[in-house]
Amino acid sequence: MKNRPKVFIARRLPDEALHMIASSCDYEMWEQEDVPVPHGVLADAVRRVDGVLTMLTDSVPGDLLQSTSTLKVVANMAVGYDNVDVAAAKRLGITVTNTPDVLTETTADLTFALLLAAARRIVEAGHTLRNGQWSTWSPMFLTGMDVFGKTLGVIGMGRIGQAVTRRALGFNMTVHYYARTQKNGLPSNIHYMSLDDVLQTADFISVLTPLTQETRHLIGERELSLMKSTAVLINTARGPIVDEDALYQALVNKRIWAAALDVFDEEPVSPKHPLLELPNVVATPHIGSATIETRTKMAVLAAQNLVAALHGQTPQNRVV
Ligand code: DGY
Repeated sequence: MKNRPKVFIARRLPDEALHMIASSCDYEMWEQEDVPVPHGVLADAVRRVDGVLTMLTDSVPGDLLQSTSTLKVVANMAVGYDNVDVAAAKRLGITVTNTPDVLTETTADLTFALLLAAARRIVEAGHTLRNGQWSTWSPMFLTGMDVFGKTLGVIGMGRIGQAVTRRALGFNMTVHYYARTQKNGLPSNIHYMSLDDVLQTADFISVLTPLTQETRHLIGERELSLMKSTAVLINTARGPIVDEDALYQALVNKRIWAAALDVFDEEPVSPKHPLLELPNVVATPHIGSATIETRTKMAVLAAQNLVAALHGQTPQNRVV
């Protein structure tokens, strides 16, 4: 067929997504699944193609977007799009899309799993057992924090914040949240507050806001100092929202009780990172949306957005 759009796919995708793209576009793909495309390869591709399908690991800065006269769309396979210079894309008339909704419940599941793991010291308990340090049952051995009936603080009450809140209600928790705007129609045990009030009153604080200029280091030394000494901080959003040095100090000095982190300032985080040496840190490698079903849906949605934008339709998940 003539005039098929050309696209570059920045990582090997599930077949379902590839077939969708192949049915109406010619594609090149970075064939490796576990190695990000080198920036130079992506830079070369964007100068030749009409669309790119990127991952959150692919930086798409303004100068890259400026270097192409062919590119019409960046379809990011993530709900977050802090890796793309969206303002530059808008200026240049390049469409940017993301993959919301399909990962909401999956990411909320991991958030709650991390909350429970940190509260009940599950990872530490598993290591203790495997290391032969379980000598007997004893009254205060590996005691953690109750979750049922406590207060959850949610920072960022978007789709995932609301999905985590639904889980919290099942644990009879009260929810205090901070967001740019108050949400309407939430149940009466969900309270909108200032950030400081959330930090001061919550037993568990779940960070779920997007990474923007305003939210970079939103949780720093001052904010950590406001939290209860028994508080648990859970970050399943983006690493740079929390100041890692300040968090390390807060954990070492027992300013807060524990943290559970799925995201880091630099990813992959070094296994030697000081935070990973602390027993009261539960850590996972950015797997919030990592189920077979959800990652497949994300890939298909990114492919649908890409194809729609290249065929003159409005993509379902247009950011700009
Ligand atoms: C996203 O989609 O932004 C998530 O971080 C991926 O898990």
